[in-house]
Amino acid sequence: MDLLRTDLRDDLDLSEHRILDADAYDTPWEHGSPHAAWRLMRALPAPYEGHTPDGVRIWSVTAFPDVVRVLRDTRRFGSEYGTILDVRHGDPAGGHTINLTDPPRHRALRVPTSKAMTTQALRRLGPTVRANVDRMIAPLLEPGVHDAAEHFLALAMAAMGPVIRIPEDMWPLIARAAMAGVAPSDTAYTDGDVGETLHFAHVELFGYLRETVAERRRKPGDDLISLLLTVEVEGRKLSDDDILLNCYSFLMGANTTTPHVATQLLHLLAARHDLGKRVLLGEDRPATVVEEALRWATPTNHLMRRVTEPVTLHGVDLEPGELVCAWVASANRDAAVFDDPYTFDPGRRPNPHIAFGVGAHICVGALSARTVIRLALDRIRERVTGLELAGEVRHLRSNFINGITSLPLEVRA
Ligand code: HEM
Repeated sequence: MDLLRTDLRDDLDLSEHRILDADAYDTPWEHGSPHAAWRLMRALPAPYEGHTPDGVRIWSVTAFPDVVRVLRDTRRFGSEYGTILDVRHGDPAGGHTINLTDPPRHRALRVPTSKAMTTQALRRLGPTVRANVDRMIAPLLEPGVHDAAEHFLALAMAAMGPVIRIPEDMWPLIARAAMAGVAPSDTAYTDGDVGETLHFAHVELFGYLRETVAERRRKPGDDLISLLLTVEVEGRKLSDDDILLNCYSFLMGANTTTPHVATQLLHLLAARHDLGKRVLLGEDRPATVVEEALRWATPTNHLMRRVTEPVTLHGVDLEPGELVCAWVASANRDAAVFDDPYTFDPGRRPNPHIAFGVGAHICVGALSARTVIRLALDRIRERVTGLELAGEVRHLRSNFINGITSLPLEVRA
């Protein structure tokens, strides 16, 4: 099954489409591509009312302006209850972490931690990050058949490793545990049982982070964990548990998204030879290729919010407690904003995609992600002359992350 096919059928029955079911996002798309469903939803006059397999009502917004409206309005659409469909019954970390806190509390976590990822901070780490990316993708640049998904799995750690000060031998385990945390039923990460896989992922990540936090208390530095030790929310320092949970959010945010932009891009370049040739020959500015890869991949399909004050969305009155799903991946294919949205245009300008979200919670790691993806693309363009699909491409079983778990490629260099 070609994962690039979007099958934009108009006769699709939305009530039959399992848009809210993680299992429908496996390889192949069992019930048609979600893009087909999102396109139909965008044409509806009101938010789409659907139910998860366990009967929870979710209002979906899919058009670009509606997604932006929901994400910007943190007063009426809160994050504290949970922001992904998997935690539709409530996230235990709600109110404790940067991504699960509403303003004004959110600012107390956001302002100091974002300092670890400014242009200045990343420029200082530049040579280290470049060397890390080079080392990580070197095997992929050798002629032969490689699984690009494997080589990119820890790509985000090329920058986050130095930012958090985590030694390189831990990167593959952290990256794998992060993916197991978002897709515990995917065959690439599961040990057979969803509960046990999640438990393993949490034990691995939290166990490691607990030791690291204790070490930073003894010997602070200029890394993100040392910064978190100094953060005060409402006049009080963060507890060790809150520091752990926040580190976890940063590692999850970085590792479950960044690799999939690189894999989705290479998948496309290998599958569409004309495009592959154009991008590998360097006909377009690298920055526009990276932005289009971000729009195209949109690794976080959706962001969930809970209504906190009565609000009306296109005539539908929503009471506090209702759950709204803002489909970012759909907004990034909205023809009202993007010309020819189902075409990958490596020279697309302007490209106002919202792959990093929008508003108060806009991704704090965007610069770091753009940096490592750009470095990887530069190396690939320097060394690789051709790419060919060399086996089955496997998609992640998740309605949250648009990921690829296996991408066998024949590389010509
Ligand atoms: C291509 C890569 C990435 C994509 C597509 C992405 C996407 C997103 C999106 C859509 C949000 C908004 C969440 C919301 O509104 O609820 C977000 C927030 C966040 N991201 Fe990323 N992210 C990426 C890379 C990273 C990296 C490298 C880090 C590491 C620092 C990171 C850490 C975070 C954190 C901590 C938040 C929460 C920010 C807040 O609530 O203020 N992300 N990301």
